[in-house]
Order: sequence, then C-alpha cells, then structure tokens
Amino acid sequence: MKIHTLLSPHNVDDLFFTGKTTVVIDVLRATTVIATAVKNGAREVIPVGTIEFAVKISGNAFGGYTLLGGERNTKKIDGFNLGNSPFEYTEETVSGKSIILFTTNGSKAIVKAKFSENLFMCCFNNLKSIAGHLLNIDKDVVILCSGSHGMFCIEDTVCAGILASEIRKRKPDVEFTDAVKASIVLSEHYEHDLINLLTECEHGKLLTANGYERDIEYCARLNNLDVIPFFSSGVIKLAVRQE
Ligand code: MLT
Repeated sequence: MKIHTLLSPHNVDDLFFTGKTTVVIDVLRATTVIATAVKNGAREVIPVGTIEFAVKISGNAFGGYTLLGGERNTKKIDGFNLGNSPFEYTEETVSGKSIILFTTNGSKAIVKAKFSENLFMCCFNNLKSIAGHLLNIDKDVVILCSGSHGMFCIEDTVCAGILASEIRKRKPDVEFTDAVKASIVLSEHYEHDLINLLTECEHGKLLTANGYERDIEYCARLNNLDVIPFFSSGVIKLAVRQE
C-alpha cells in the first residue's frame, strides 16, 4: 500500500484520479458538514462545482425532500436553505433529505476527483473510521487536500498527516511519498491542540471574524463520528463497510 498526498487540487487535472482510491479533506468545513449530514440521516449529499448548477438541479428535485446547502465567503448563499455550519445539519433538518452542496473549495475538490474508483470524504471527526476502511480495502491511496483557492492550507494537511499516521499504526510497511512525510511532520506539531490549529489558521480566523467560532470547536473533534461518506454516481452516501 502506498499513500500520496496532494496539497492542493490545482496540482493535477481531473483525469489524474481515474481508477484511484481518493480521500478528500476539507476540515473547515465541507467534509465535516458532509460527515455530519450523513451521520444525521441525510439520504445523500450531492456535491456540485457551481452555484448555478446547484440551482439548476434543485429545480428538477422532488419538492420537500431536497435542500440546497453551502457557502460563499463562508456565508449562506441567497435562496439556499442551509449554510455550511455543521450545526445546521441536524437530524431534524436533514434526515431523509437529499442535500445539494456547493462550497468554495471542498465540493469542487470532490467533483474534481469524481473519476476515482473509490472516493471518500474525511475530516478530523471521522478520521479513524476512514483509516480503518482504507486498511480493509488495501489499495494505494491519494489524499486530496482541498486547500484554499488552489493554495496550500495547513488544517487539511495536518488532517492528512494524522490519517497517514493512523494507517501506519496498523500497517507499518505502508509507503509514503515526500508530501505525506511532510504532512506527518506538521501533524506531529499540531495533533495535541487541534483547536489551536483551527483557531490560528487563515480560514479559522475568517470563520471567527464571521461569527462561526463554535464551528471551530466542532471541526476540531477527533474521531467522534463513525461514518464513511462515499461518492458514487454523483452522490455521497454511507459506504458499506468491509471487514
Ligand atoms: C470550502 O469549501 O471552502 C469551505 O467549506 C468553506 C467554509 O465552510 O467556510
């Protein structure tokens, strides 16, 4: 098993992912929202690359069972039902619903990786479940950090580093590329204070400035959600576990 980490989606084109097993990370906040939504009984999450496409497909959707969610500049988009705070994706709100999700970086990274053979969404909340599932399927893995507007972001990289370390605990002979080794060094610095990491990073500061400080504490929780969000045929659902 070999693991590679892409520190930004802009380093490759869509065809790079063909046939790969890919894990997309957007700690603040898209993959945290997705893990929360499927945990709370959402029927599916449909990630999209543009707001226009979100609105277009919601027009064909079955009324009452579809919600539009996501953010622009961290805030709820005009006409959408939900923003991109995990606290909005409660069981009461999302259970049984299809959620069309647009976010600045995370939903676009998932759409970019759509040709993957296996495509999972990871955040701190469900990291251990994802690590266990990857060990069970035992394929080479590409970890895709959503980053920020095509640039590196520290919180996704630290999450990638902790994920790789978690896999190495159970599979010591796993091979790492240089980017994975770098992400592990960073994660060792921050793993014992994830709240500090998420408070001090660029996007964390923006979320705090815009009134979302509660989201930071939520997104910093480690391994409290035992879910494996899996993308197939355009939608994200819970994966069937392999033992
Ligand atoms: C993104 O996709 O960039 C994020 O999820 C942004 C956010 O939630 O603030």
